[in-house]
Amino acid sequence: MLLELLTWPEVETYLQTQNAIVLPIGSTEQHGPTGIIGTDFVCAGAIARGLHKTLDALVGPTIPFGMAEHHTGFPGTISLKPATLTHLVQDCVGSLAKHGFRKFFFLNGHGGNIAVLRTAFTEVYREWPQVQCRLANWWTNSDTYQFVKEQYGDKEGSHATPSEIALTMHITEREVRLPLAPAPADSGIFSPEDFRRRYPDGRMGSDPTVATAEDGHRLYNLAVAALGRQYTEFVRETG
Ligand code: NI
Repeated sequence: MLLELLTWPEVETYLQTQNAIVLPIGSTEQHGPTGIIGTDFVCAGAIARGLHKTLDALVGPTIPFGMAEHHTGFPGTISLKPATLTHLVQDCVGSLAKHGFRKFFFLNGHGGNIAVLRTAFTEVYREWPQVQCRLANWWTNSDTYQFVKEQYGDKEGSHATPSEIALTMHITEREVRLPLAPAPADSGIFSPEDFRRRYPDGRMGSDPTVATAEDGHRLYNLAVAALGRQYTEFVRETG
């Protein structure tokens, strides 16, 4: 079920027997010269809809914005300040908690959101002690990790990675192919200006030229299966 396609009485009926929801969250930010700006929310949203298809999980609208301050030196990036993102998460959870939702499975597509989401969950628990929030990054399960390691090795890098770009090629059927010089390795993240100086085309150590839509299809299936298991376990846990 997709929340946006339900009526309120249908949500009320759902809440008579269940109290979990998947909330996909990403970011709107540069992904190097060949990666689309929406990469992180496109990936999170598609995998979340995969949980809707395979498990009939209730999936909320994708939150397209994340904490992407370090990418703001590149045009097209839209970032929320850490405090804004914390409040956004608190407000979304709080609204749904009021109706009886208790388990929130944040399916995350952006590394920069991790610290902020953890902070937001802490704030949520002050207000809603009966709520449980789970952070699930689509790329950190062992199946996906293994595939990426075997397929890309060192070419994966840490931003504008072939794995995320392969996934968007599969989901959007759009491919941007350009010759790319080797990208500088991850040497830290400071200000947006410094980021652009260190990583002039936006990539951190990655070679996305090796990405293919076929890899993306495989990654999609692996991620949907792995995240589906994590979601099912989370829903079954008592408390
Ligand atoms: Ni990304």
